[in-house]
Amino acid sequence: MSNIQNVSVIGGGTMGNGIAHVFALSGSDVTLIETKQAYADRALNTIEKNLNRMVKKEKIKESEKKGTLDRIAVSLDAGSGVANADLVIEAVPEIFEVKKKVFKTVDEHAPKHAIFASNTSSISITKLAESTDRPDRFVGMHFFNPVPVMKLVEVINGLKTDPDVTEHILALADTLGKVAVPANDSPGFVSNRVLMPMINEAIFCVYEGVAEAEDIDHIMKLGMAHPMGPLRLADFIGLDICLDILQVLYDGFKDPKYRPCPLLVKMVDAGKLGDKTGEGFFTHD
Ligand code: 3HC
Repeated sequence: MSNIQNVSVIGGGTMGNGIAHVFALSGSDVTLIETKQAYADRALNTIEKNLNRMVKKEKIKESEKKGTLDRIAVSLDAGSGVANADLVIEAVPEIFEVKKKVFKTVDEHAPKHAIFASNTSSISITKLAESTDRPDRFVGMHFFNPVPVMKLVEVINGLKTDPDVTEHILALADTLGKVAVPANDSPGFVSNRVLMPMINEAIFCVYEGVAEAEDIDHIMKLGMAHPMGPLRLADFIGLDICLDILQVLYDGFKDPKYRPCPLLVKMVDAGKLGDKTGEGFFTHD
């Protein structure tokens, strides 16, 4: 299988800019595709800020930071932005129709050998792969926030994914300094199938008055050695994202154990989405 040197990342949000960061840092030539220059500038600023943090912590040298930034080009057109890609990673909002449209466009313009990966947190890889003419060259590449820090990449096989493509992506993740772990396509894959019910249960504890939000997080941090309590983590991920994922689990399994807590639904309806809106279970600067 051909070497992966040119990587196109579609979407420069929290996950997309982190993915561009780690690929460029490991030596790939990255094209970051956004819809507006202002969004692309914001993504580049975030990458620079996070690289500066790594320089300050003496994890990388100033010259590596510069090299990383030099390896990132921006494109405002998905078609031309994937024209030389060996790998296309999609990190656009978690809406099936939006992702489908993106993949249809890039399928027309990307080289035939290019592998397509989605960073979706829970949408079916098998279903997304069918928006393209290359379901055998389509995988899930699920990164974790903050991408430069978190070690895991969950690599998801769609029903038609060629096992050689999966092997190639597993090996590639290794070159990023990540640990890649395979899973088969199923609602929420492994990570979110296990994580989201824990977060949902913590929200039920608030809803039913079992304990205060701070105390629930305190218990889980100290008792389970989690770096963040489940409610702080929910704010960090985004309460809207948590709700979307729970909805995928609930719809996918038709099992009431995945029923989103009514408090979560109410908070999302009220626009209390966590860090990104400044208020969730906790307030944030
Ligand atoms: N880029 C680069 N480095 C970063 C960073 C970023 N965006 N954010 C933090 N760091 C580095 C810091 O420089 C620091 O480095 P050091 O260890 O060398 O000092 C280290 O990460 C820790 O950061 P801080 O000291 O600022 O803060 P904390 O110790 O509180 O750690 C945290 C922050 C890494 C976010 C930690 O709280 C954590 O691991 N939280 C859990 C995160 C988690 O579970 N993420 C997964 C979410 S689920 C997901 O993404 C999947 C999706 O599908 C929902």
